Amino acid sequence: MAYTLLIRNCGQLLTLAGASADRPLAGAAQQHWRVIPNGYVACVQEQIVALGPMPELDEAEVTPATVVLDAGGRVVMPGLVECHTHLVFGGNRAGEFQRKLQGETYLDILASGGGILSTVRATRAASEAELLATALHHLEGFRRYGVTTLEAKSGYGLNTETELRLVQVAQQAGRRQPVRVVPTFLGAHVPGPEFKGRPLDYLQMLVEEVLPRLSPAQVPFVDIFCEEGAFSVDDSRWYLEQARALGFGLKIHAEQLHDLGGCEMAAQLGATSIDHADYLTPAAAARIARQSQGRTVAVLLPLVPLFLRQERYAPGRAFIDENLPVAISTDFNPGSCPSKNLWLALQMACLKMGLTPAEAVAAVTLNAAWAIGQQQHCGSLEPGKRADILVLDVPTLEEIPYWLGENPVRQVVIGGQLM
Ligand code: NIG
Ligand code: FE
Repeated sequence: MAYTLLIRNCGQLLTLAGASADRPLAGAAQQHWRVIPNGYVACVQEQIVALGPMPELDEAEVTPATVVLDAGGRVVMPGLVECHTHLVFGGNRAGEFQRKLQGETYLDILASGGGILSTVRATRAASEAELLATALHHLEGFRRYGVTTLEAKSGYGLNTETELRLVQVAQQAGRRQPVRVVPTFLGAHVPGPEFKGRPLDYLQMLVEEVLPRLSPAQVPFVDIFCEEGAFSVDDSRWYLEQARALGFGLKIHAEQLHDLGGCEMAAQLGATSIDHADYLTPAAAARIARQSQGRTVAVLLPLVPLFLRQERYAPGRAFIDENLPVAISTDFNPGSCPSKNLWLALQMACLKMGLTPAEAVAAVTLNAAWAIGQQQHCGSLEPGKRADILVLDVPTLEEIPYWLGENPVRQVVIGGQLM
């Protein structure tokens, strides 16, 4: 069938294909996926239909109507999958950033009624149109970094009406521009201010009033923040069990600031991802990998300890050595990481967590897709997958983590369309 788009002369085609297709890349497989030197990738409309070494290109399928992009010997790879963001919020916390620079900690600020709760006040006060406009602005920024699929959590409403509005804004934002948006319900971010000191009552309210109004087909995941000042392991377990019974996939923010055991608890319930994990030990990671049979993904967020000045980074190297699949994300949000630069997160994962360039690339593509249940659609270059493709400005995989802080993206393709 005649190609509608052909990208030729790819110096390195990072396919991410190679290992078994029924689980995320783990252990050595996170490193050893297929790179095609001097390759091409061909698409028909929205889909990839063929790829391989340039000498195998079927010229008969290239017609005058084919859009031909010459990669000029550069790296070509799947669009980035950003698997953990708090996209929709009002206001910002630049003021608190000053307090942090003067030595206050994240949990001090939260306990004094600031932090997440100050964004909740700003979000409740914002109109739906304002929230949508800022979400679209941030999505545009992500797209320029080469993000083609993005997870967006609610969690700054903390009451029924506002939480539902945040989910709707995320869905709307997904329809208004080309980046695919996957919404997650994080009503259980911290107890709403009306439920101060009564976390379980708050969770019960979410289970009775809010979850029944969401459908797993549209909002595939329910998430909770398990931490001092947020929800305990026991309360989180109860809540995630209720969510699972309603058909939602599970995620957790855990082991961010303390080792409470939230990651292991969530993995036992079959969580799709366990996020942060800066305090997760290699021994617990090994148990999770075994028990989940490599299906639970650890989503590492290295820009958060950097921005919070915690300087404790998840032992990503050990996680991979223990066969726990690893993804990387920014955690974009107004408090603990206002950056959309997923490349910088990838670079920090190499520098501070010991990932290799190949492992880190897998962590922002195929494993990130697994972390949000999108692995059938994106995360690798394979026939049948969506044509979400990047042409980078570097000639080799090794240069991706090298140009610290730069955006290496030269061309973004989403669903077969040049952006
Ligand atoms: O993933 N850790 C909890 N939630 C967010 C931060 C939210 C905020 O500070 O506004 C996170 O880091
Ligand atoms: Fe987060």
